[in-house]
Amino acid sequence: MEHLCITGGRPLSGTIATSGSKNAALPIMAASILAQQPVRIDGVPQLRDVCTLADILRSLGIRVSRLEDGGLELATVDSLPVRADYELVSRMRAGFCVLGPLLARRGRAMVSLPGGCAIGDRPVDLHLAALTALGAELKVEHGYVVGRAKRLVGAVVQLSGPRGPTVTGTANVLCAAVTARGQSVLREAAIEPEVVDLGRFLNAMGARIEGLGTPTIAVEGVEQLGGSRYKIIPDRIEAATLLLAVAITGGRATVDGLVPEHIDAVLAALERSGCRIDTTPHSVCLTGPQRPRAQDICARPYPGIPTDIQAQWMAFLSLAQGRSTICDEVFPGRFMHVGELKRLSARIAAPDAGRGDGRVVVQGVERLAGATVTATDLRASAALVLAGLAAEGETVVRDVYHLDRGYEGLDAKLATLGAAIKRI
Ligand code: EPZ
Repeated sequence: MEHLCITGGRPLSGTIATSGSKNAALPIMAASILAQQPVRIDGVPQLRDVCTLADILRSLGIRVSRLEDGGLELATVDSLPVRADYELVSRMRAGFCVLGPLLARRGRAMVSLPGGCAIGDRPVDLHLAALTALGAELKVEHGYVVGRAKRLVGAVVQLSGPRGPTVTGTANVLCAAVTARGQSVLREAAIEPEVVDLGRFLNAMGARIEGLGTPTIAVEGVEQLGGSRYKIIPDRIEAATLLLAVAITGGRATVDGLVPEHIDAVLAALERSGCRIDTTPHSVCLTGPQRPRAQDICARPYPGIPTDIQAQWMAFLSLAQGRSTICDEVFPGRFMHVGELKRLSARIAAPDAGRGDGRVVVQGVERLAGATVTATDLRASAALVLAGLAAEGETVVRDVYHLDRGYEGLDAKLATLGAAIKRI
């Protein structure tokens, strides 16, 4: 197993480019099941999660090829298989995104329930209720969702639960609705840029979707979808992680090739913490403060601060002047990183039943001190890397497996900006 060894204390500087978005690439790859002709997707990052989804798609009769120029080509070579196996789907929840496309295109599906994961209980009830409303017959048998649908029929469906809209649920249902008979209306749908990107990809293949980026999406079903060539959006979570890395080291660097509007809430919070932000239409230059100002952060659905950047904020605010609080309305228990950040001398109190408000209290310290830490999920790993960049001495982040699932060469990018970071 590979680990990362970081010697902290070097302010980052220079310019670095953003990779393509993981969370846009995954549902878009799954949606290629719907295409009658080959599709080509540009900007798909080289990640473990992308490889896992490619394996799931291969098991479903899709030929997935990485082209020399980095593009990904997907083409159906066998439209009979309908089973997405537990072994693969349990490794990566986004594998569940094949359910909608399989029901729509092949009329049958057998997709493993993804199960829980390190960031908490992750139900799929909203996916199943909406697909049922579109006419799919679904049952759960031996850990699999087993479904049938002759031809799906348009309907009004609801995609929000107690924690807000579901992102991959909206993706699944959008894919199911595009070739359903008649009109569908997706209410309280997710408005994340990754969902908009999926919708645009489907439209590029001939779908008729309106209202993308708003909570009400209207879909006029078409007979079938053709092929397409499509470039996915930049990864806003990676971009925000890189900016926080610059900020935590008090450096000055530019993150290029991103869409600044996608991280408006993050940029505003960075400014509140004392960072200087200069944006162009495709880049952000950040100058970090000597020490950040404390503030209260709450992760919310888009356009709020994303849950996928909450752990990295905690690393940053652990060095703030004063007391901050952090909560996560999307995944209220996504605080596995607290214990490991404390190993780096952060002063953090996890939410306790007594206080009952689900907020983590971060009492800023002047210095973090390097230590060996272990992460249990992707964004927690990123938070530990960020803390290591600022900590005195050496930090070893064990098991980079999680980081490689979702960041394209994060350590190499940080090294380009001057970080002392190596794989051991
Ligand atoms: C997507 O997960 C992302 N994954 C996650 O990114 C991200 O954290 C999350 O959206 C929230 O933004 C991909 O895009 C591949 P949800 P998803 O369904 O779609 C509840 C990362 O680090 N819910 O939007 O699985 C759920 O429990 C990852 O890159 C139901 O109650 O998340 C949560 O509280 C991790 N019933 C809330 O909704 C359902 O049927 C939002 O979850 C589905 C979800």
